[in-house]
Amino acid sequence: MCGIVGIVGREPVAERLVDALRRLEYRGYDSAGVATIDSGVLARRRAEGKLFNLEKKLAEDPLPGTIGIAHTRWATHGVPNETNAHPHFVDGVAVVHNGIIENFSELKEELIGEGVTFETQTDTEVVGQLIARSLRNGMGRREAMQAMLKQVTGAYALAVIFADDPSTIMAARSGPPLAIGHGRGEMYLGSDAIALAPFTNEITYLVDGDWAILGRDGAFIFDHDGNRVERPRQISQSAAYMVDKGNHRHFMEKEIYEQPEVISHALAQYVDLGDHTVDTSICGAIDFASLRSLAISACGTAYLSGLIGKYWFERYARLPVEIDVASEFRYREIPLAKDQAALFISQSGETADTLASLRYCQEVGLKIGAVVNVKESTIARESDAIFPILAGPEIGVASTKAFTCQLTVLASLAIAAGKLRGTIAPDEERQLVKSLTEMPRLMSSVLNAVESQIEALARELSRYQDVLYLGRGTSYPLALEGALKLKEISYIHAEGYAAGELKHGPIALIDENMPVIVIAPFDRFFEKTISNMQEVAARGGKIIFITDEKGAAASKLPTMATITLPHVAEIVAPMVYSLPIQLLAYHTAVFMGTDVDQPRNLAKSVTVE
Ligand code: AGP
Repeated sequence: MCGIVGIVGREPVAERLVDALRRLEYRGYDSAGVATIDSGVLARRRAEGKLFNLEKKLAEDPLPGTIGIAHTRWATHGVPNETNAHPHFVDGVAVVHNGIIENFSELKEELIGEGVTFETQTDTEVVGQLIARSLRNGMGRREAMQAMLKQVTGAYALAVIFADDPSTIMAARSGPPLAIGHGRGEMYLGSDAIALAPFTNEITYLVDGDWAILGRDGAFIFDHDGNRVERPRQISQSAAYMVDKGNHRHFMEKEIYEQPEVISHALAQYVDLGDHTVDTSICGAIDFASLRSLAISACGTAYLSGLIGKYWFERYARLPVEIDVASEFRYREIPLAKDQAALFISQSGETADTLASLRYCQEVGLKIGAVVNVKESTIARESDAIFPILAGPEIGVASTKAFTCQLTVLASLAIAAGKLRGTIAPDEERQLVKSLTEMPRLMSSVLNAVESQIEALARELSRYQDVLYLGRGTSYPLALEGALKLKEISYIHAEGYAAGELKHGPIALIDENMPVIVIAPFDRFFEKTISNMQEVAARGGKIIFITDEKGAAASKLPTMATITLPHVAEIVAPMVYSLPIQLLAYHTAVFMGTDVDQPRNLAKSVTVE
């Protein structure tokens, strides 16, 4: 998604603004720009493509000024070119925007009818034009900002500066997050705390409907009706994380290798590592004991971790789970009641579809739980119970460590729910939790054992155009996740299927041109999956077999490759088998030469519906 930063400061700001934008690159973008005010003159530099192009322009033609705003744009309306890049200028007003102005077409028609000429194809330009019109009609800057906010509808995080006022940044939020950073004689604005980490860790998050006026000595925050409001000032943890690649080529590779460590952080938060129990207090406001059923909703990889969670809640807690992708969930009008609860899973905590489904359940009066990586996020703030996954900032657009940390939290909650509902005996609890606590060690050994084999296999896989992933039980959602990982970073078409569904259609696709990746630990489904593999082999299909020592020994089938993992308990198989899945997608993408950390067309957090 787009990224916004602003500084009203004492020192020159242009370079610092671009540095802050670099910390927002992970959100995905296709153009960028910066604007400053110097001696009453508003000036800007904008560039298509990556920040490197903007930095080149600034080096050739520096921007003076101690107040400015900057933006990375992920195009929604208007092609990603320099003309459409933010900041937009209208008669001495500069605007940057994240989100979508939903009523921009009628506002644009109204303004054109009054003789206004538009420079861009974007929805954002309407914001600057509305403010400029109010100024022409004699309003002051603050009044003009407030008038604009009453005229636009949609999702927006906005920053605005005025050529004739070099000491103020105005900001507004409705949907996409916006944070104010407190400095010493300087104030900052950013889409998240990570962007502001080089300047400050003292952060105030605007809430939906807030707008603010930032000066060098502080900020005034107002609600939608213009009443002064106070918002909590907190110390952000984001500053503590070194958001860099370390000795890895990509953030995604770094985050794959961080999994043993960050999973141990999540485990320490949710289970007792000594006596292998789960304290049911981790369930917070969600009273699993009395629930008739649980609804789960999320998007993308987060949805797939929820799909695995469904298996666990139903198996270990005998709790029926209704799950759907967030973009469908609230439109199905699922009959929901107060003896149910809803769990929303989101790495960013800002995904618009997931947030909209949360609010749908809120209206019905369900207790809301949020499994999130950002505790200060909107989804977290609007929930009754927050279940942080403690993965640390995940910069790569393709979710890896967040996925396995989500699974760790969901497994802990399913065991706690089983304990509360009396469906798990103490010795089963101890056995399950003991298996969870062995994960970091297991994952470390797997990462070291399979990396070179998978890198060689990826070179072969990168030559194909279509790949099929198969799995049973909790390996079925993992097959879906494997397909999502491969397609989103290597751009190879990939599909995940329940192995048992092969003969109901996909088997028609099987030939030597489509590798079939079979995820099959030696578990209670193994024999059935082997028979699916025989169906594939009998039709000349090429099999990449991901299994354990017993599985490798039991199968006599010819394969393109067999990746052998240690035998693991069923409850940790999804986390451990995620590693070869992630590494295969990563190395294939590296061979394809794609932008692994920021794949084309993708954003790290989709804050528009
Ligand atoms: C996964 O690799 C993708 N980046 C995407 O599917 C992501 O999981 C989805 O957009 C949900 O994001 P969230 O977890 O921040 O809500």
